[in-house]
Formats: sequence, C-alpha cells, structure tokens
Amino acid sequence: MISMMVFGPTPVGASWGVPRRATRRTSVALAFACLIVLSGCTGESSPAEPEDTAAESTADAPGYRDASAPVAERVDDLLARMTLEDKLGQMTLIEKGSISPETAAERGIGAILSGGGGSPSPNTAGAWREMVGSYQAAAGETPLGIPVLYGVDAIHGHNNLRGATIFPHNVGLGAARDPALVEAIGRATALETAATDIRWNYAPVLAVPQDLRWGRTYEAFGEDPELVGELGAALVRGLQGDDLTAETSVLATPKHWVGDGGTGWDTSIASGYRIDQGVTLAGEEELRTVHVAPYPAAFDAGAITVMASYSSWENGKVHGDRYLLTDLLRDELGFEGLLVSDWGAVDQVLPGDYYGSVVQSINAGIDLVMVPTHYELFLTALGGAVEQGDIEEERIDEAVRRVLTVKFAMGLFDRPSTSPELIELIGSDEHRQLARQAVARSVVLLETDGATLPLDAADPEPLLVAGPAANDIGIQSGGWTISWQGGSGATTQGTTILEALEEALDGPLVYDRTGRFASLAEDERAPVGIAVVGERPYAEGAGDTDRLALSEQELEVVRRLHQRVDRLVVVLVTGRPLVLGEIATLADAIVVAWLPGTEGAGVVDVLTGAEPVGGRLSFTWPEDVGVLDRVRSDACDGAVYPYGYGLGIDGRLLPGAASCEG
Ligand code: GLC
Repeated sequence: MISMMVFGPTPVGASWGVPRRATRRTSVALAFACLIVLSGCTGESSPAEPEDTAAESTADAPGYRDASAPVAERVDDLLARMTLEDKLGQMTLIEKGSISPETAAERGIGAILSGGGGSPSPNTAGAWREMVGSYQAAAGETPLGIPVLYGVDAIHGHNNLRGATIFPHNVGLGAARDPALVEAIGRATALETAATDIRWNYAPVLAVPQDLRWGRTYEAFGEDPELVGELGAALVRGLQGDDLTAETSVLATPKHWVGDGGTGWDTSIASGYRIDQGVTLAGEEELRTVHVAPYPAAFDAGAITVMASYSSWENGKVHGDRYLLTDLLRDELGFEGLLVSDWGAVDQVLPGDYYGSVVQSINAGIDLVMVPTHYELFLTALGGAVEQGDIEEERIDEAVRRVLTVKFAMGLFDRPSTSPELIELIGSDEHRQLARQAVARSVVLLETDGATLPLDAADPEPLLVAGPAANDIGIQSGGWTISWQGGSGATTQGTTILEALEEALDGPLVYDRTGRFASLAEDERAPVGIAVVGERPYAEGAGDTDRLALSEQELEVVRRLHQRVDRLVVVLVTGRPLVLGEIATLADAIVVAWLPGTEGAGVVDVLTGAEPVGGRLSFTWPEDVGVLDRVRSDACDGAVYPYGYGLGIDGRLLPGAASCEG
C-alpha cells in the first residue's frame, strides 16, 4: 500500500486538495496519495487501514469498475484479481511498431508509445485515433479490461501530427519568461493531443543545460534552475488542467530525472554520442542546486509521472541508481508517483547483462520500462527475476499499483477514449494565434543600429531576403517535428518567415536562398536585406557539436547579401546561442528567432514593430565554444551577452535586462 501520509486537519489547498501549508515534500506525497483515496482527501489524520480498503464487488460490477469507489480501493480490488503475468505486462511500455493491438492485449501490455515520428500512415488525426483506439479496444476485450496508457513526445505542440500547431521550442519560451503563456501552450497542446485519443505526454523537459554543445539544449527552458522549474510547472498545469479525469487532461512527465543537462563533453559511452547520455559532472551539491531544483515545482503543479535520465552519475547509470531513483526522488522529495524509464535505457545499466540490468533498474525504482521493442526478452527477464527472488513480488505490486493508480486517476477505466469532436481543435486559428504570440514574445534582439528596425511596412523600396531558413517550415520548427530528427522542407502546414514578410510588406521583395540574386543585375542593390540563417534540425545526441557557429555555406549567404544592401538584418533560426564571428561586423541588426515552429509570422511581427521585442536570453551567449564553463563564476565570464540580456527595438537594454558592457 503506498504510504498514506496524512497530516492534522489543514485547510485543503487548490488543485490536488493539498493542504496550503504543506511542505514541498508533504504536498508531493499527499498529492499522489490523495489520488489514491480521492474522496478521502480531507486532511483527516486517520490513515486508511488495509482491511478498510478491501473492496467488495458491487452487484453490477467488480469493485475496480465502480467509478464512485476511492482509487485505492479500486487498485486493491484489481491487483487482487491479477496474475503475476498480468502484473508484469502492466510494467511494460512498447512502441507501437513493435506489437499489434491483439498481441499487446494478449500479453497484457500496460502502455504503448509512438516514439519521435511514430505516426500512422496517413499522418492524419483520424488515422491517429484509429491507431490509438485499436490498442484501447483490444485491451477492453480482455478479461480484466485494463486500459492502455498511450504516450507521445508532444514537446512543442502535438509535433508528430501533420497539421498540428507547432509552438516555439522551449529555448524560445525561456526567453519569453512568461509562465501564463507556457501554461496556455500546455493547454492547447493537451487539446490537440487528446484529440488524437492520446492522454500522456513525455514533457516538460526540466533539464538545466550547462554546456551548449548538447544537442538537447533547445528542449530546455534555460540554464537557470528557477526559471526551468517555474516554466516547467506552468507546462504541467497547462497539460493536466484542473481535473486529471477530464478527457482533455493530458498527463505530464517531467524529465529526465536527474542531471541530464549536466553531462560532460566526450563522456557519453553507451550511446556513442559526444555529450548526450554522458556522465553528469556535478558533485552532490551542484546536482541538487542545479539539476534537482526544478522538480519540486513540477510536483507541486501536480505531476505524477517522471521519466528517468539516460545519463550517469557517481553510481553509474541513473536508471540503475537506487540513491537517485528512490532515496532522493521518493524518500527525500516525497514523490509517490510513477517512474518510467527512457527508451531502451534499462539495457544500458549493465552493458552485456540484460537480466542484471532489468533486476537492478526495477530494484532501483523504475516502475514502467520503455523497453521499447523486445518485449518477449523483457518479460522473460522480469518474470525470471521474480521467480529467482532477485526482484521481490512486493516490488512488482508496488510498481503495478503506481501504474494502476495513474490510470484510475486519469479516468481511463471509466472513459478509455476521448471524443472524436475534439479533432476540430487541431491546428485551430486560436492555437495558431497563440503560437504566433509566443514566437513574437520569444524573439531576442542582440544588436541593432537603432534605425534599420522596425521595417516600414509601407516602404515602396525593394527588400532582399536570403538564407535557407527564410522559407522552410521544417528548419524553423527544428527537431521533434513530424519525424524524430525533424527535417527541412514543407514538412507540415504553417507560415514561413518569408511568407509572413510577403504578407506584411507593401514593397517588392526578392528572395534568393543562396544570396546570389542571379535574377538581378550585378550592381542592383536595395536599402535593406534580411538573411535568415541558422541550424538545421536535429534531435538528442545527433545535435551534439563542438562547432557552435553558422556553417561556411550560410556565412557565405550573409556575405553575398551584405554586398548588395545598405543595411543588413541577420535573423538566427537556432536551438542555442551560436558563436557570431563575422556576423557581428556584417550585421546592422541581429535577431534571434530560436526555433519558432509553424507560425513564422511572429518573427515578422517583431521585425515590423507590429509586436514589441521583449525576449531576454535564457542562456549565456558565449564568445567561443572554448569558454563554455559548467557553472560560470560570473554572468559575463566568456560571455558576449549574459543570461537575461535583450534589447528593445530602440536599441536600449530592456527593463531588467543584464549586460556585459562596461
Ligand atoms: C527519447 C528521449 C525521451 C523521449 C523518449 C520517447 O530517447 O530521450 O526524451 O521521451 O525517447 O520518445
């Protein structure tokens, strides 16, 4: 029985019926414990005794199917009806391409996921609903009828789904620094995700990246733990809403516990990447103050699932580290929820010893294993470990209770599928308008001569635009968009920066991706040019690099355009700060658009002054890769622009902005 920590009568607080004056630790434990006894959450000081919870079967349905019964009773009743095989199946998370709905039901698989790009064909909302619904329907036909928990990475909108609203990646939302905006984005994302019958999202990332060479920097809100915690908690609230049983409530999953953003260069072994999934270099103090710090806010916001980190720390892989997964996360922080592994991460715990890896990770505290493909191997190892006594059956029951508690808490037993009418919310004008606002709020102005911007929409003079990122939805959306790695081209519906410029400006506009403008006379010039350049899409370790700069090809685009215009604006589409080099001297204005997603018009709203520029850096902008330090001694150490820097359109520091000048 999950320990029910109930304290003296206290006025219950908001959201999870948690006492307002509860400590952080208490509130987390009580939040999940409340889910278990739902109606029993009055702050009474009498913990329910096991015999009190023995559920009687009601006349018309077994106890666990009685929607009016407290969650703990439903869990107890169902657990008592489950065989060991049923239980092991509930601890198994398989990617949809590796198991059919029928086999998943036969094996009692508790959870299914679409990994990055794991879309049905055709990639339409209807096809998504059919795919997810097929697993749910098959599960519903089994004797116990335990619903499936289906998860995706909807980390900047329902980004696997073509036609969904794609919001700015977190690196941009960090620059906007607006929790209400992030909460609204979480809500819109939940609606579009639930519309495809999916109620579990592997977000927010609560990483606090300390090295910009990491390919997952853009998935994080910033380098400051407090900002990350504040915005991460906002996303949890937005995704889950006020009532986890509502069909439009989507389960958040703060990740990756713990230290994912603190790994050192060239310390990654198992994955073959350069920094991703490497060894977190922080000592205990820094691990707590930097990487643990954002999680309590997410728990207080109601998060009841967490995903473990691929990275390693002092005791080896985090996935096998009982100190981090149980002593620190549960006993100290009071997290009582469900701990899910990352994709195949259990396999890395003891390289070459799969059985030992399964035993160690489950005993360390992993409750649900994202296998994600070899489910026979996993179930054989897990079952064998119980038989051998290497994993106690009590540990299995504890893990299964957490899985079942989440499913009951979400109302999945009572309504396994969402309403198909929700589909009309996908890519709605309202959501796209929200995304456009978020893009504008995330833009950071690094340099300006005070005259070039804002562009005069009524200016009859021609405008020259160059650069691959100017007219490419895929590039401006970045990784985790339609496919895992993302990709250039018209990957989904949206508005490119070029299309938005054409829409906003009265004068003629000439675009040439390469900056050569072969259609113009050699000596043909224009007053203003805009070069939109930056990074190509990537995800995870594929984005690890020690070359944080524009490619030579893109620098050449900027140089060519610079030759033809009197004043040059450089717009950077990037997942992280880049070493500027000669851009700093060629440009009269430097604008960072980050990875805006489908609504490129938000960038143009700032360029034309239709929206104010207000973004401030959530990452230090370094002079060079070499000066990257883990935890800088002071904000301007090796920095061109410090954390918090940002200019207004007039070229003056924004209120509250930091600077390293003088
Ligand atoms: C990936 C990522 C994790 C994601 C999971 C499922 O490897 O590390 O963030 O949620 O697999 O796609």
